[in-house]
Amino acid sequence: MNQNDMKKAAALEAVKYIKEGDILGVGTGSTVNFFIENLAPLKDKIKGAVSSSLASAERLKKIGIPVLDLNDVEEFDVYIDGADEINGNLEMIKGGGAALTREKIVAAVAKKFVCIVDETKLVSTLGAFPLPIEVIPMARNYVSREMIKMGGRPVYRSNVITDNGNSIIDIHDLMIKSPKDLEKRINMIPGVVTVGLFAHRGADVLIIGGHDGVKIIDGSKTGSTGIRGEMQK
Ligand code: 5RP
Repeated sequence: MNQNDMKKAAALEAVKYIKEGDILGVGTGSTVNFFIENLAPLKDKIKGAVSSSLASAERLKKIGIPVLDLNDVEEFDVYIDGADEINGNLEMIKGGGAALTREKIVAAVAKKFVCIVDETKLVSTLGAFPLPIEVIPMARNYVSREMIKMGGRPVYRSNVITDNGNSIIDIHDLMIKSPKDLEKRINMIPGVVTVGLFAHRGADVLIIGGHDGVKIIDGSKTGSTGIRGEMQK
């Protein structure tokens, strides 16, 4: 089974979390694209979707799913999205696709965050995947200097402008021992719009597509640390 097959398997399992008449939160990335493909036959059962990016919104519209403005939606049950890395506490690095700010907003409104990944995304310590930070363009070098002080190596993603008109810096060489603390510290730097650490609002359910099939970890059933031994690399 290759990585795409594992992503597809996780994306298919996520369909089980959809109920008739739902408004869905839909994330961004290749795993979510597989999930969106699965929505085509269900389009008449879904009231609509709130999207975390213009790219996903386009895909949703193409298959006939109404895309709703988050300002018109007070609450919804489920947000489905991928991750670049996820640990045993269901804390994540996200933003490989530069959609981190809208992803964090949509995840904040959702009652349940269902994360869909292939097994290569599981880690014991976050940080091997460079941590994306969305910044106001004029603050790019200032935020980069602050990240060097925190032990990181910032690299400007020069070919990318986010859906919000901002820049992305990817921070290499971090070993993130306390994701919640680091999320808070980076959020306090002036000019930072969003850091791609999803620790304060992590995932509630993790669906992992792997060589041995699909595995589901429900954070509300296992507690935040009960799954560590089983799933970490
Ligand atoms: C986009 C994201 C994606 O969820 C993350 O990059 C995973 O992508 P993929 O499913 O393509 O591996 O955070 O901003």
